[in-house]
Order: sequence, then C-alpha cells, then structure tokens
Amino acid sequence: MEPIMKAEHVSKTFGTGEAETRVLTDVSLEIQKGEFASLMGESGSGKSTLLYLVGGLDTQYEGNIYIAGQKMTGMKEAEMSALRLSKIGFVFQFYNLIQNLSVEDNILLPIKMAGKTVPGYKEKLEEILEITGLTPKRKSKPSQLSGGQQQRVSIARAVLSEPEILLADEPTGNLDSKSTAEIMELFKRINDEKKITILQVTHSPDTAEYGNRIIRLDSGKLVG
Ligand SMILES: Nc1ncnc2c1ncn2[C@@H]1O[C@H](COP(=O)(O)OP(=O)(O)OP(=O)(O)O)[C@@H](O)[C@H]1O
Ligand SMILES: [Mg+2]
Repeated sequence: MEPIMKAEHVSKTFGTGEAETRVLTDVSLEIQKGEFASLMGESGSGKSTLLYLVGGLDTQYEGNIYIAGQKMTGMKEAEMSALRLSKIGFVFQFYNLIQNLSVEDNILLPIKMAGKTVPGYKEKLEEILEITGLTPKRKSKPSQLSGGQQQRVSIARAVLSEPEILLADEPTGNLDSKSTAEIMELFKRINDEKKITILQVTHSPDTAEYGNRIIRLDSGKLVG
C-alpha cells in the first residue's frame, strides 16, 4: 500500500552564502494511512519547516515528497493547489478565522473559494458541526467563542472536504489543559471515525501520547 506521505532524503536550507543555515538534513519518513503521529523536538529543530514542506506550502528543498501516491515535488502551482485542497488539511496554533463571518461560513470558506457549490456539502457540514460540538454556535462570530471553540472551527474547516492527511502545527499551543484535552479527543475521533491520517507537531509529551507514533527531530535530523 502507498503511504499517505513519503519524504525521501529531504534537506532544507534558508539563506545563501555565509548566511546559509541548514534546517533539515536528509529526512526520510513515511506516514501510513490511518496513523496519528506526533512530531516532537526542541524549538528550532525544524518541525514547522518539515510540516510546511509536507503540506506544499514551501517548495524550496532538496529531495522528494509524495502525498497519496502523487509526487508533489516539482508540481506546477495550479496542480499543487488542487492537491492541497483535496488531500491536505492544515491547522495552526493561531486559528486564522475570518472575524466577520459566522462559524459555518468560516468552515465553508475553502469550499466557496474553490468555486464548489455549498449545497453539495450540506450533509458534511452538519456532520462536522456535530463532531466538533459547534452546532449550537454555528451562527456565532469567532469573537463570541473561546479559544478552544475557535480551534474547533479551524479543525472543522480543515476536515470538511475529508483530506487524506491533517497537518497540525502546535494546535493546542495557545490553550489551557481542559481545551487541549478536548482538541486531542476530537483529533482521535477524526482519526478513528473519519479515517483521516494526522501529523501533529507538539512540545507536550501528554499531547503526543494521544497519537500512536512519536517522530523526533533533533537539529533537523530524524532520531530514534
Ligand atoms: N524563513 C526563514 N528564514 C530563515 N531561517 C528560518 C526561517 N524559518 C525558520 N528558520 C530557521 O529554521 C530553524 C527551524 O525552524 P522551525 O520553525 O522549523 O523550528 P520548530 O522546530 O518549528 O521550532 P518551534 O518549536 O520553536 O516552533 C530555526 O533555526 C529557524 O530560525
Ligand atoms: Mg514550529
């Protein structure tokens, strides 16, 4: 079976000449369908950089990256956007919600921006509102929600179109322990029920434990 994500000998440098810094060195990694993996490592070890490469948000690197059997490396931007939209979901530490849109309009925004018709997503919208516990808040604006609720909106937005892989960069970095546990339970449910593969970056061993695999980076190299 094809892995959902495969990185082959990926290296990444920022800057040139004397300012050149190597951030990732020869990273080879596979994530299989259904995994819930936690990427850990010290600040500056290259976790976010790796996640951005895997998600196609940064295309400047050496090596090859495949998503769901498609070689992403060297893809044209239009093809890459289509791949990101259909196969990859992103969640960040900050929720990046549009303040003057309601919860449900925020969740539907990527679908609308892709020129898809909203009625086709009606059932999926109801389902994801239910799973994320946001049904009673569907007409609220982000400013009327707690941090944990806002993060649930950004997760609903990321998984509405049922991507193959959900990439989350310190999704609970800004939340208290109760909201963190709720978000991690939600990830587990999305992983179990919707069969969406998850790769999350976290500093917290407790949070990492919600997944079924821990991947460690040390100064840009995979360890262990
Ligand atoms: N745009 C950039 N230009 C130059 N250097 C960068 C850039 N982005 C990141 N770096 C450097 O790359 C290294 C890895 O950064 P990265 O953000 O991937 O670390 P991280 O493991 O996510 O850290 P943290 O846990 O603090 O989020 C750091 O030394 C950082 O300074
Ligand atoms: Mg980071």
